[in-house]
Amino acid sequence: MFGRTVDVVTVDLSTVEVDEDLLSVAELGRALGIARTAALTDYLRAHTWLRQRLSEYLDVPPEEIEIAENEHGKPYIDAPATDLSFNLSYSGGRAVLGAGFRMEVGVDVEPLEGAQLNPEMMHRVLSRPEAETVRQSGNMKREFYKLWVRKEAMAKANGWGVGEETATNLLGLSPVERDGFEVTDLNIGDEFAAAVAVPAGCTIDLSVKIEAMA
Ligand SMILES: CC(C)(COP(=O)(O)OP(=O)(O)OC[C@H]1O[C@@H](n2cnc3c(N)ncnc32)[C@H](O)[C@@H]1OP(=O)(O)O)[C@@H](O)C(=O)NCCC(=O)NCCS
Repeated sequence: MFGRTVDVVTVDLSTVEVDEDLLSVAELGRALGIARTAALTDYLRAHTWLRQRLSEYLDVPPEEIEIAENEHGKPYIDAPATDLSFNLSYSGGRAVLGAGFRMEVGVDVEPLEGAQLNPEMMHRVLSRPEAETVRQSGNMKREFYKLWVRKEAMAKANGWGVGEETATNLLGLSPVERDGFEVTDLNIGDEFAAAVAVPAGCTIDLSVKIEAMA
């Protein structure tokens, strides 16, 4: 990988075998606080997979990668020294990882099955034109979550505070450019809505790889 390229990889978490030996003390500590079994399993699988993927980029063993958080809580690689950025999202048994050198990356994935949609939620999350577009669409849930993951990906890429993403209109054909960032819808199957955001103005070679671990 070279230049300003973002890689997007997605995996079915049920195919990932948890390896707690790869995880840091901090990750294991967080795991202890997760009460729901399904959430705990997803967490352990997602973090095992994340470390395995980052290890391939960095050419160091997964357990030697030190991950810290910036002032907004966004994870970054503290060691080894690198300008590789990444962002992780996982939900409903699916994980998405975006990774690129010298850029901020944001990703989000949401499962559509069982997803809720109510007027209060629409009012809270969407701008007025977005809410109107969702109401007039033939598939309100899909349209809502398409916008939701765009907002989350943008927020995760550029560190927006809560509320800023609500005010910003992200309607339009993918990719949508706002405030120096560009958000692109990801096609990872009909059961999920997903998006990736990166800084605008750079050449993006975006290839979604769908992995199934052994
Ligand atoms: C904290 C937040 C990133 C969690 O998102 P989520 O949809 O619940 O969960 P995801 O699976 O998509 O992402 C979780 C991962 O994102 C990463 N992450 C955590 N905080 C982050 C931040 N501030 N910025 C970017 N990435 C972050 C972590 O890798 C985290 O995994 P971990 O919890 O296992 O360590 C998200 O709620 C957030 O801050 N969003 C921004 C603004 C907002 O509130 N939007 C709401 C409505 S659109």
